[in-house]
Amino acid sequence: MLKGKSLLEPMDFTTEEMEELFLLADRIIEEPEQYAKSCEGKLLATLFYEPSTRTRFSFEAAMLRLGGKVIGFSEPNSSSVSKGESISDTIRTVACYADLAVMRHPKEGAPKVAAACTDMPVVNAGDGGHQHPTQTLTDLLTIRREKGGFENLTIGLCGDLKFGRTVHSLIKALSRYRNISFVMISPEELRIPEYVRREILIKNNIPFQEVKNMQEVLPSLDVLYMTRVQRERFFNEDDYLRLKNRYILDAQKMKLAKENMMVLHPLPRVNEISAEVDNDPRALYFKQAKYGMFVRMALIMSLLGVEERRN
Ligand code: CP
Repeated sequence: MLKGKSLLEPMDFTTEEMEELFLLADRIIEEPEQYAKSCEGKLLATLFYEPSTRTRFSFEAAMLRLGGKVIGFSEPNSSSVSKGESISDTIRTVACYADLAVMRHPKEGAPKVAAACTDMPVVNAGDGGHQHPTQTLTDLLTIRREKGGFENLTIGLCGDLKFGRTVHSLIKALSRYRNISFVMISPEELRIPEYVRREILIKNNIPFQEVKNMQEVLPSLDVLYMTRVQRERFFNEDDYLRLKNRYILDAQKMKLAKENMMVLHPLPRVNEISAEVDNDPRALYFKQAKYGMFVRMALIMSLLGVEERRN
């Protein structure tokens, strides 16, 4: 069903297609060794114009664990990008060699431009402050596995809601499920963009509130999605320094939360979750990072249209 498609925005796939992906990810988690040859003979290109640990490594690990191979760059200056090559020429060249490309780029819409230049599937691995759809697949798989589904949840989103692309993608994707409500916790300067508020939340009648104080809303949350203040997106270093430690989740604050509240974070973190929270069973961010590899295995298999065969 997804064979040959690109993934550029979280809504590119229907909820049914997402469910198929999650079911495949569940099967891979259950018996990963059964998929060790699924992508033999296939090649993934990772084109990272911005730094990454989880997204790049999890995509590369996913392809290698499926028996495929990986080429690419994590430093664009090591490629002909440094000589001024355009995105369109780069992707058309990569399509001569690879079966699937994953692109992270600081400019919003760059992966969409790339996808328009080729028949090869292109995956957006994060474009500026815009979207990060495979992080959303990761977040959704984690919520689905730990909460049994997406309905009747109060989701708290905390930190840099303005520049945090993972937040924008997650709100968009969750807006399609029933009885979801959001609590946005941020300083005035880092509130969610107006387009998210109007075109997603208000347009779809999704209940949400915007608050500045984390403690007052913690007891009501089923999921707390913490985010880093995105230093690289600030125009002014003083503003970043003023805002960077506004919210720090620690063991004391966790006492206010439900016993089964999930703490998620796309990572990397800076100071926004104290290390003491890591041992709390509700802290699921490293499990989330691991699920990211499994859901990317399911995504790679689906976009390449490889048969799900037993080894
Ligand atoms: N969550 C995420 O996108 O992490 P990286 O920037 O390390 O890929």
